[in-house]
Amino acid sequence: MEIAGNTVFITGGASGLGAATARHLSSLGARVGVLDRDVAKGTEVASEIGGVFAESDVSSAESLEAAFAHLVEQLGAPRIAVACAGVGAGKKVIGRNGPHPLDEFERIVNINLIGVFNIVRLAAWAMHDLDPVGPDGERGVIVTTASIAATDGVDGGVSYSASKGGVLGMTLPLARDLAPWGIRAVSISPGSFDTPLVEGMPDAYAEQMAATTPFPPRFGQGPEYAQLCAHIISNPMLNGSDMRIDGGMRMAPSRLR
Ligand SMILES: NC(=O)c1ccc[n+]([C@@H]2O[C@H](COP(=O)([O-])OP(=O)(O)OC[C@H]3O[C@@H](n4cnc5c(N)ncnc54)[C@H](O)[C@@H]3O)[C@@H](O)[C@H]2O)c1
Repeated sequence: MEIAGNTVFITGGASGLGAATARHLSSLGARVGVLDRDVAKGTEVASEIGGVFAESDVSSAESLEAAFAHLVEQLGAPRIAVACAGVGAGKKVIGRNGPHPLDEFERIVNINLIGVFNIVRLAAWAMHDLDPVGPDGERGVIVTTASIAATDGVDGGVSYSASKGGVLGMTLPLARDLAPWGIRAVSISPGSFDTPLVEGMPDAYAEQMAATTPFPPRFGQGPEYAQLCAHIISNPMLNGSDMRIDGGMRMAPSRLR
């Protein structure tokens, strides 16, 4: 799928990986719609790149439907959607004071898993009756963000890994469901990336993450994620798979207790 001249909607586009992708795809000629619940940062990113911001909560059907419709009015239907909205979590299944609160688990799954499905369903519907383009008759591309924690979950990551495992698990069925319309679905599983999501991490834990990344032994940067995203959009044979971008890291159990 061509990036230049096409419309892309990005959830979580106000910060971190989503903001880096918004900037990169805009620099490659896309019209960018930024969807986020953070109005100040979302407005800033959108105005910096000449895009449009729409406030929304990805975990709410009504909120995302309204914001999505607003962006379609402003920019036209998207041929590209990137799901980056997400939140971190850190709590073990049982702690000193009792079992993991169920509502905290639900909150993480609502944002990280249901929130991804929410943008996927709206984007796929908007794409399905666009004209097919290019030699393969493509209509659209959907990129979701899982995590290496989907498969290498660490202690204290039970809700986060469950939510990301769900994102990973939907990649192939999405590609199969959407194939008749020429719409591709690919997920990205980042390792540790230097974004506000990991800023609150204890220093010792952050050091362990960087030190266990074979090469380069550091956190990834937003533009590296954005570069992979642009490649996925441009390469029509990438479909139904998950792409790890992690410097070879395989997360080990935490040494922290
Ligand atoms: N940073 C990493 O190391 C890393 C690693 C693996 C996966 N990821 C995933 O990448 C994605 C992007 O994370 P990031 O590191 O850029 O974090 P970030 O905190 O910088 O950005 C996340 C964005 O999502 C938005 N958001 C959160 N909840 C929302 C909601 N309910 N509705 C709308 N917007 C909401 C936030 O406002 C923020 O702008 C997330 O799904 C995260 O789980 C990040």
